[in-house]
Amino acid sequence: MDKIKNDFTGEIINIEKIAKDTCKMDIFSSLKQAYAGQFISILCPNKTLRRPFSISNLDNNIITILFKLKGEGTEYLAGLEKKDKVKFLAPLGHGFQIKNKKALLVGAGIGIAPMLFLKKNLEKEHIENYFITGFKSKDETIEGSDETVIGGSVLDNLENIIKEKNIEIIYSCGPVPVLKGVCEISEKHNIDCQVAMEKVMACSIGVCRGCVINLKKNNEIIRASVCKDGPVFEGKEILWD
Ligand SMILES: Cc1cc2nc3c(=O)[nH]c(=O)nc-3n(C[C@H](O)[C@H](O)[C@H](O)COP(=O)(O)OP(=O)(O)OC[C@H]3O[C@@H](n4cnc5c(N)ncnc54)[C@H](O)[C@@H]3O)c2cc1C
Ligand code: FES
Repeated sequence: MDKIKNDFTGEIINIEKIAKDTCKMDIFSSLKQAYAGQFISILCPNKTLRRPFSISNLDNNIITILFKLKGEGTEYLAGLEKKDKVKFLAPLGHGFQIKNKKALLVGAGIGIAPMLFLKKNLEKEHIENYFITGFKSKDETIEGSDETVIGGSVLDNLENIIKEKNIEIIYSCGPVPVLKGVCEISEKHNIDCQVAMEKVMACSIGVCRGCVINLKKNNEIIRASVCKDGPVFEGKEILWD
């Protein structure tokens, strides 16, 4: 078993509501580096299991997360204030593998969080990209993309964008139906695709095997844990349930 060397205590330096039932939290800690697609898993004192959140930015030791209120863990986090401390494991999992290819970023709902970090990293490397997001309603919208779909499906315009902008790779995060659709569209157009998967997690570090999915690699079926082997996987390798 891996030694748990990535245990941090951070101080909240900002927390604000940015959309309906959605908060942004900036945490100062000694964590200096992480890749887009990696996540942190925060201890909420009212819960035994840590809660995982994608890293939405990391700059000068300040991690940003965006989170949606779901249940007791996220309610607890939303009630924290500046100067409060949080304990978390980080950086966890494998992030997106940046390729020097013209990229389409697709973020659905709170799936925008890791895509904002990825976009920033692509831009640092001067890699051309186009970023589309989708939200259920206007009051849930989070800014930062080139195009926003409100109400409809983020998948509807993807094929046009791929053709018009000569897209060579798609990176995506969001609910399973969106990720599955993105993978199908990328396969149809024969372009690379990497998706960040989400599963309810118990340990977040590859021990409990509670977050396992099936992958197909070289005609074999392999069981992979989302927290440790992912959360980012090659789209063509995922066996959807
Ligand atoms: C790798 C990873 C990255 C994530 N990144 C983000 C993020 O950037 N922002 C964000 O808002 N959320 C993110 N999530 C989901 C987030 O972890 C859950 O919303 C959170 O743990 C819910 O905790 P809770 O105690 O408030 O709700 P709970 O009381 O635990 O659950 C409330 C409801 O949410 C569902 N739920 C709980 N955990 C998950 C999960 N992991 N995936 C899907 N549904 C879940 C439960 O089944 C239940 O219906 C991520 C999850 C994973 C696995
Ligand atoms: S959550 Fe325990 S192995 Fe992934």
